[in-house]
Amino acid sequence: MRSFIYLSLVLLLLISCSDQEVVNVYSSRHYEVDNLLLERFSARTGIRVNLVKADSDQLVARLEAEGERSRADVLITADASRLLLAKERGLLRRMESEVVEKVVPEHWRDSDMYWTGLTKRARVIVYDPSRTDISNLGGHENLDGHENLCSYENLASEEWRGRVLVRSSNSHYNQTLMASIIAAHGEQGALEWADGVVENMAREPRGNDRDQVKFIAAGLGDVAVVNSYYMGLLHNSQNSEERNVAAQMKILFPNQAGRGTHVNMSGAGLTASATNVTNGIRLIEFLLDKEVQEEIASKNYEYPVVEGAKWPEMLLSWGSFREDTVSMETLAGYREQAMIIFNRAGWR
Ligand code: FE2
Repeated sequence: MRSFIYLSLVLLLLISCSDQEVVNVYSSRHYEVDNLLLERFSARTGIRVNLVKADSDQLVARLEAEGERSRADVLITADASRLLLAKERGLLRRMESEVVEKVVPEHWRDSDMYWTGLTKRARVIVYDPSRTDISNLGGHENLDGHENLCSYENLASEEWRGRVLVRSSNSHYNQTLMASIIAAHGEQGALEWADGVVENMAREPRGNDRDQVKFIAAGLGDVAVVNSYYMGLLHNSQNSEERNVAAQMKILFPNQAGRGTHVNMSGAGLTASATNVTNGIRLIEFLLDKEVQEEIASKNYEYPVVEGAKWPEMLLSWGSFREDTVSMETLAGYREQAMIIFNRAGWR
């Protein structure tokens, strides 16, 4: 009888263990395609995904507060700068994954394998060609055969006085962009650039990237700084007004004649506290599967980080472009200087 009880207990334990095939994810990505993909991951592997969604600064703070007791296995952020912050604070660990090393180009993952990029996005300039003449900037290489001389630096020049729409310095996308300007021009150059952009702003920064594009349509400004995928989301929105706004606009990839367009990355890392290490790695590898990468590109219009993944029609229509290849480590090193410059320039 006693051995039967023991056997039952062991069986119960085994069942509850197999029941506990989970991976706990902290994610600051805020896109519909993610829910779909996480569900598919669960259906394919039987691993349940427990998802906590919040702003990446909150997630990093939470990981820090929870310390070793944290249940999180994987940290996913919309902007990789926060993965570097998490690494610096000892909140991530090395991933042992040949798949990640094989499919993600070295440039798009951490040299110590503490995080990997999942998708790329270009920080582009959007304008309405029926209202804004950009011929003085040279047009677009890929759309009309002209050399594109448009640059982030142009946004600070006098001709754009009162015409530039860009969101606030709270945006991680802008912080990483500013870091890339510091990397290119040094702190003094970046401060002068920020002063020029602030001078040229059509209005005090407010709203998100999509709002900047809508502000152009509303006649509040002429050029907007926006992450590329938001243009895809507007084009394919359920809301016909958003579709109409997108149809009016064109995209310029800045700095094609120089260092290339600033690309920010969304990425993932394994947490230092992870207890479901294998499941965490499986999830990250799943998100880097070529078909999954293509699906993210076709549904959220981000650029695949895996080479050979096909671009959907929307991305092809925008054309290929030269990417600024400054490393994420370099950009992360300018995080604090970027905030100081925003403050000094009064970029709220
Ligand atoms: Fe975003």
